[in-house]
Amino acid sequence: MAKILVTGGTGYIGSHTVVELQKEGYEVVVIDNLSNSNIEVLNGIEKITGIRPAFENIDCVDYVSLDRTFEKHINIDAVIHFAASKAVGESVEKPLLYYRNNLVSLINLLQLMPIHKIKKLVFSSSCTVYGQPDVLPVTEEAPIKPALSPYGNTKQISEEIIRDTVHANPCFQGIILRYFNPIGAHASAEIGELPNGVPNNLLPFVTQTAMGLRDELKVFGDDYDTPDGSCIRDYIHVVDLAKAHVVSVKRMLDKKSGQQLETFNLGTGLGLSVLEIIRNFERVNNVKVPYKIVGRREGDIEKVWADPSRANNVLGWKAAETIDETLRSAWAWEKHLKEIKSS
Ligand code: UD1
Repeated sequence: MAKILVTGGTGYIGSHTVVELQKEGYEVVVIDNLSNSNIEVLNGIEKITGIRPAFENIDCVDYVSLDRTFEKHINIDAVIHFAASKAVGESVEKPLLYYRNNLVSLINLLQLMPIHKIKKLVFSSSCTVYGQPDVLPVTEEAPIKPALSPYGNTKQISEEIIRDTVHANPCFQGIILRYFNPIGAHASAEIGELPNGVPNNLLPFVTQTAMGLRDELKVFGDDYDTPDGSCIRDYIHVVDLAKAHVVSVKRMLDKKSGQQLETFNLGTGLGLSVLEIIRNFERVNNVKVPYKIVGRREGDIEKVWADPSRANNVLGWKAAETIDETLRSAWAWEKHLKEIKSS
């Protein structure tokens, strides 16, 4: 079976992808510098699949260590590159850190892959590249809008770096996946999102508030041009997202694509508002989420949801989990975290 290198494999989306790869029989090598994750995630992966992936604690910004890793783990067939910094606010405060972490790591990988005869890359991009789209649902053909943060800019520049590299190397192949809003956790509750400190994203804030770890959730704005005034996003179960990576890798390894570079939206196609998420979460989990409406958050997009038809038709992938199941899994994971902390 093919061997896949997963950078950022102990992170939120990375760890769920490692599980799905292993379930499909792939051998996985994980690289992570553990800057925003925990080594114990490997235990969670092992509990689910019975297999502990090979692990290297290295930073992809470190060219020499990355080179050594490729020398040690020979015959890698494809790379899935998750490792990146992802906090939008932090990127505004520390832009150079973000440009360095997110761009140098990608450049190192793209330089080293051909040296080690690896020609296939799956890259984690984001719907952030669309900014506020003019037409909804948004397709992959929508124009790329000026980035609102250094983080968003690193995703746009990364896509360009990959495009130019593929163009210059006819034997190189890449798939760019533009994620909408990943939420939820593995059904076993053995792995999930592990936010460092105060969460930035909505769902960890919702679960922590429901658990009583935070007094109340701040809803950023109720005066948007949406039915209930709060922002709309396309929330996708992280396991559905993970499965799309497996399909993407398989597509390249099976030589199903005649194209060198393909880009896919990974979303459900369903837009939900912040208030709808809160209400659904309360209903399916039978818990209260105290919240208060506050002012808009700077840089927020009003509404965005995916047209996932290209991924549905070309990859043969479709988001399968319901929002109810997804919100249940997020709550089960928060409860699991509480058990771990109290034991
Ligand atoms: C953000 C980034 C996006 C990035 C993603 C990474 C922006 C503009 N976008 O997406 O580029 O890929 O994180 O995960 O920052 N909300 C609240 N209260 C909270 C937290 C969030 O009301 O405490 C609202 C936000 O206003 C937004 C929605 O919940 O409407 C989702 O927010 P979030 O989870 O942070 O994701 P995005 O902002 O969509």
